Amino acid sequence: MASARTTAGQVSGAAGPLLPGADDSALELGSVRAGRVRRPPVLPSWVLKVVMAVSGIVFALYVLVHMIGNLKVFTGVDHFNEYAHWLRTVLQPFLPYEGLLWIVRAVLLGCLVAHVGAAAVLWSRGRKSRGAHRHKGLGLRNFTARTMLVTGIVLLGFVVFHVLDLTTGTAGAASASFRPATVDQAHAYENLVASFQRPVAAAFYLVAMIALFLHLAHGLWTVVSDLGATGRRLRAVGYAVAGAVALAVMLGNIIIPISVLSGLLS
Ligand code: HEM
Repeated sequence: MASARTTAGQVSGAAGPLLPGADDSALELGSVRAGRVRRPPVLPSWVLKVVMAVSGIVFALYVLVHMIGNLKVFTGVDHFNEYAHWLRTVLQPFLPYEGLLWIVRAVLLGCLVAHVGAAAVLWSRGRKSRGAHRHKGLGLRNFTARTMLVTGIVLLGFVVFHVLDLTTGTAGAASASFRPATVDQAHAYENLVASFQRPVAAAFYLVAMIALFLHLAHGLWTVVSDLGATGRRLRAVGYAVAGAVALAVMLGNIIIPISVLSGLLS
């Protein structure tokens, strides 16, 4: 009896599958033995890509807004401390003290778990299916793509250090003079200046901001593709916005430790 191999690699014939001893359901998935069948993953890669894109956009918005807020440090000690206090009391009495801050923290933590988890699964799938082959010759985007894992790990370490340094003031990371916020008053300005007056801490912030630029630029470039932008002009605009946001966040943040180190902020 005649048999043929379909484009999907299945063996078929006029009377159906023709392989004696083969597992029928395995044959449907393109394999002869059930043990060899690679079932489709519960979460397909495109779903993980969308998870990464959406959580990445949340992070990008957060760092952009945070950077704009940080620049208030140039308006003086009172303004900056009032701003930090306002962040804790905003929407009272509808929300408790630090209510909005806790909502933001919960959203960021959820996005962090989703982003890192999806990245780990996609990275391992990519390695398995790509084997020894590597994509070459993409210029700056190639460099940022290859350093995503490293810059991501630097950023994870930075966020842990940063929260211990300027939010909790936990011994070890914080400057000796750290003053926690109270329900009446915040001391964000004094804490920030004291932190950046330590050259090693300031240097770490600078390195982290460069890592943030590389990670954000490539991440947002990728979002343009992952969310399905195919038109040439739309992609060009997307790339330009991605680069501009990443550059603005880096420069806006980097200027703060530099200003403290140079004595402009004290
Ligand atoms: C040089 C750059 C930065 C400066 C000067 C800065 C400044 C600050 C300050 C002063 C606080 C404490 C605010 C307060 O007590 O009200 C803070 C908190 C925080 N920052 Fe930054 N930041 C910088 C970069 C970043 C970046 C790049 C990220 C994210 C990747 C980030 C994430 C956070 C987080 C998650 C908190 C904790 C908010 C909370 O839960 O209270 N920061 N930052």
